[in-house]
Amino acid sequence: MKDICILVASERRNGNCDLLARFTDKYIKEKGNKSKIIYLKDFEIKQCQGCMSCVFKNTKCKLDDDLYKLADAIIKSDALILLAPTYVLTVPGKLKVYLDRFLCLYPMIKNNPEKPALSIGVSSPIDWNQFHLPMMNIFLLALGLRVIDSYIVYGAGQGEVLLDDRLKKIEKSMEKLFGYKPQPFTSVVSPYCPVDYCDVFQRVEKDLFRCPVCLTPARMVEQGFYFDAKDLNHHRWTANKMQEHFDEWILTTKERFRRLLPEIYRKKKDFGLV
Ligand SMILES: Cc1cc2nc3c(=O)[nH]c(=O)nc-3n(C[C@H](O)[C@H](O)[C@H](O)COP(=O)(O)O)c2cc1C
Repeated sequence: MKDICILVASERRNGNCDLLARFTDKYIKEKGNKSKIIYLKDFEIKQCQGCMSCVFKNTKCKLDDDLYKLADAIIKSDALILLAPTYVLTVPGKLKVYLDRFLCLYPMIKNNPEKPALSIGVSSPIDWNQFHLPMMNIFLLALGLRVIDSYIVYGAGQGEVLLDDRLKKIEKSMEKLFGYKPQPFTSVVSPYCPVDYCDVFQRVEKDLFRCPVCLTPARMVEQGFYFDAKDLNHHRWTANKMQEHFDEWILTTKERFRRLLPEIYRKKKDFGLV
């Protein structure tokens, strides 16, 4: 039996994400599993102050809010379903405010076994959502989760999403969540990145692109993009790469800044900023 957390990132009561949350909650329980709906609006989340104490002093964040309460709810579950409306091509700001605090959460998540997550974005039926799934999935990857499915369902007014045929796809995704077993990525040709479902790519050279979210190379072939297993299994958000990023960049920025301070001070004087 799985215990699944459903996180709703819309503030709209009886809105599309709310209804999808109730739809998934019902399905999960009917299949003999446990689930809990939580609403981002019920958590007070303050903006990161950039003090870096969580990193350099290895202390808990001093901001008095619900950062850890929300992390606990996610970490204690076996899987997460994230539901978010599209706001101006991407996720609502509060989700990003939470994501900005992920360095505080890193010590809590870095040694956890990989758990599965599903992200469902709700957009209006127009072409205004290119950054939605990538941002939702950055949130999930930063929490150390494996995105096993990710897509947009369409609906504008409250309840309109229930008319979308993709609802059937949600049931299939939940079955995937129930049966999830950690496994490495395999090589694949796909129109989107298998790690984060991003379909916006950076061009590196002629036919070679890369996913901007996870930096996995994507070679353009006739049927789409070829992603090699060895690259997919070493993407930016893997536990090893995250540890490397933490040790070799974030932790070293303190010493680097100390070294640069005299030069910065000279520039401040030159520009009349002191
Ligand atoms: C502030 C705001 C910005 C929005 N921006 C977009 C957008 O860029 N693209 C889009 O497809 N829909 C956009 N929408 C529409 C919502 O994504 C859509 O109505 C969705 O169903 C809302 O989900 P909810 O009912 O769960 O809140 C926007 C809605 C609001 C309120």
